[in-house]
Amino acid sequence: MTTTEEQAVQATEPNEHGYRSYTLGEFSFGRDEHFAHIEWPTGRHVMAVEPFLKALMRDIAWNFFYGTVNFDSVIGTINHYGNVDLFAGRFNEDYRKAEIDHLENFPHEEIKATFEAMLGDWVNDSFDPFAAPQETGSAYGDKNGDNTAAVTRTRVTAQRMVGLPEDEPLRSDESGYPVNRMFADVDQGEPEVRVEPGYEKEVAAFSLFKYLSRSDVTWNPSVISVCKDSLYCPTTEEFILPIIHGNDRVEWFIQLSDEIIWEVADRETGRPRANVIMKAGDCAAMPADIRHQGFSPKRSMLLVWENNSAALPGMIARGETPNVPVTF
Ligand code: PHB
Ligand code: FE
Repeated sequence: MTTTEEQAVQATEPNEHGYRSYTLGEFSFGRDEHFAHIEWPTGRHVMAVEPFLKALMRDIAWNFFYGTVNFDSVIGTINHYGNVDLFAGRFNEDYRKAEIDHLENFPHEEIKATFEAMLGDWVNDSFDPFAAPQETGSAYGDKNGDNTAAVTRTRVTAQRMVGLPEDEPLRSDESGYPVNRMFADVDQGEPEVRVEPGYEKEVAAFSLFKYLSRSDVTWNPSVISVCKDSLYCPTTEEFILPIIHGNDRVEWFIQLSDEIIWEVADRETGRPRANVIMKAGDCAAMPADIRHQGFSPKRSMLLVWENNSAALPGMIARGETPNVPVTF
């Protein structure tokens, strides 16, 4: 048993590969060179450890996100904003029919502490779960150091707003973030702003394309503007969204550059509903009753637009607001 400062984390001594195993309620998690092994009273599941760690990283970094985070077609979490369900087979038609699905609810802090301990222990020094495949080493093999800087990374924050004098370093080489290899063609010009004298420190504009071209992570929406419950969350994407997101509200996508292919399926059963190919300039709304996963062949820029209202999941569950933003 080991203990973190705030929460007791149930962990074993390291196994022959150097990794600890973790228990959370009736679930247990173990890893070897290649796989994460997950067990619960009525079943067991195995996942390649690389996709498992990429999903785990995002579930933690996003505080369990909106609605459901499916690690794959079996394992995942449901956010109830304060407490979190951990499940196996809950959104898998066949596991449900066979009655081998399992779900347990945990206080937010308890599941977070266990997931953080597992991530810290299972990520080796060569691997960055947020990086594109060609920008990181391997997740596989016996325990070999750790990558605390990568797994505890937090988003870069502005003092006031990108573009204002005190935040000037954020959009230059001084930021420490070079322009990504895939965005070498992105125009590094800034908009011209003519400010009424006296307001130079208050009025600013910046090129979001230039700003995003320096992003060193993939599939990690950040919040760039907040207006009441409206959150603009741009992100840079390459390869596969490491989770399959089950929505609890409508969300909008604006494809800012390049292309993403979305597989959209029924949230409950996983039955396919649509394949959506989004090219630069395309806009789509994802319904509140689906799950989706994106595939970005080349690094691309995506604007995710979220409605952060805490009232929405309840309103949708009670049928007080539709699952789609427009009916044609
Ligand atoms: C989503 O589930 O809507 C999502 C998650 C992460 C991204 C983009 C979209 O980077
Ligand atoms: Fe989503």
